[in-house]
Amino acid sequence: MIEIKNAKNIEGKKVTHFIESKENHIIDASGLTLLPALIDPHVHFRVPGHEHKENWETAAKAAIYGGVTTVFDMPNNTPPCVSFSALQDKKKKIFNQLKSVNIPLRHFFYLGADKAHLHEIESCKDDIIGIKVFMGSSTGGLLIQDNKTLEEVFKIAQKHNLPIAVHAEDEEMIQGNRRQIKGPLSYSDHSLIRGEKAAEKAVHKIVSLVEKYPTKVYILHVSTHGELEIIRKAKQKHLPIYAEATPHHLFLTVDDYKKYGAKAVINPPLRKSIDRDALWEGIKDGTIDCIGSDHAPHTLEEKNKPYGACPSGMPGIETMLPLLLDAYNNNRLTLQEIVSLTHLRIQDIFNLPLIDDVVLADLNLEKRVGHMKTKVGWSCFENKLLKGWPKIVILKGKVFNIE
Ligand code: DOR
Ligand code: ZN
Repeated sequence: MIEIKNAKNIEGKKVTHFIESKENHIIDASGLTLLPALIDPHVHFRVPGHEHKENWETAAKAAIYGGVTTVFDMPNNTPPCVSFSALQDKKKKIFNQLKSVNIPLRHFFYLGADKAHLHEIESCKDDIIGIKVFMGSSTGGLLIQDNKTLEEVFKIAQKHNLPIAVHAEDEEMIQGNRRQIKGPLSYSDHSLIRGEKAAEKAVHKIVSLVEKYPTKVYILHVSTHGELEIIRKAKQKHLPIYAEATPHHLFLTVDDYKKYGAKAVINPPLRKSIDRDALWEGIKDGTIDCIGSDHAPHTLEEKNKPYGACPSGMPGIETMLPLLLDAYNNNRLTLQEIVSLTHLRIQDIFNLPLIDDVVLADLNLEKRVGHMKTKVGWSCFENKLLKGWPKIVILKGKVFNIE
């Protein structure tokens, strides 16, 4: 049994908290606040196929350092996770990697929707958290561009009661924009090529499909005020549509290309400050349900290439909680909102079993973002001074101290 003494709960009241464990510990948590450990519904941990960017040994350490004990992993691997056999192979590799690092990270998998493999969904249905649909091309080759196939995915999801997580950017529009923008391209052109309208068009299409086939849809990385408007209206109609925001869209904008260059190239791209501000409003009015890190590591060597050759994505699992706690210290979020966005809503939407993992955080600790545990070892937030850091994480009754 673990006894946590002298912690504060999110209302600021002193509490004693017990957690079932094979280990016996009494933790004096004076000065620390007890939060449910984070569930990250959106990570790319790169196994199999891109272990040079990340594996589950480095990723599990990064997760713990970020106060995350549960992750939903994406299917854009090599080979892509689109079949029963690919899923089983992936699970075996991950089981071994987590065992070797002795971190029993809780994890769930998305199966990728792929035109040639839709028949595989049924056999995987009990092993997955949902179906991932890429409406716009991104890292890896997964893409559903035609309406007929998209509709097919909705029918299957509805039949098996599986949530669909959508990367909502319209591929045709992206390609059209790309053809129109002439001359040598710079990193910031990324936000023009994958313009706001491409995201809005895709979300619009998704809402029409949910009206036709009412099934749970989770819109990943909402990044524009236009998408938020569409989602807000859909929610008013009580459609089962849920929305995620990422830390990078909440804390960075197109102005940050100057500072970070290729590191800031992500899909969907960074947006203008009015979009970022709309995301914060969306959090306040409940249009945004969850925060997911979209942890998508690429090595610096891969990133440091000219626009067009550099892959999209940035790591983020370790910095998500400190950024949110810093926002709490700046009166932008309440602790209740943080718990709802990073735990309760995710548990609700995806019907997760109860998870008793916790984070003990020092809300007053000021520290610069330092060395990263992710295999790629970098972050756009490196050196940023943040107030509010996790200190102890308890996962399945195992205590992890974070220095
Ligand atoms: O920026 C991104 N990176 N967006 C995606 O959709 C995929 C991700 C990755 O896997 O690198
Ligand atoms: Zn992603």
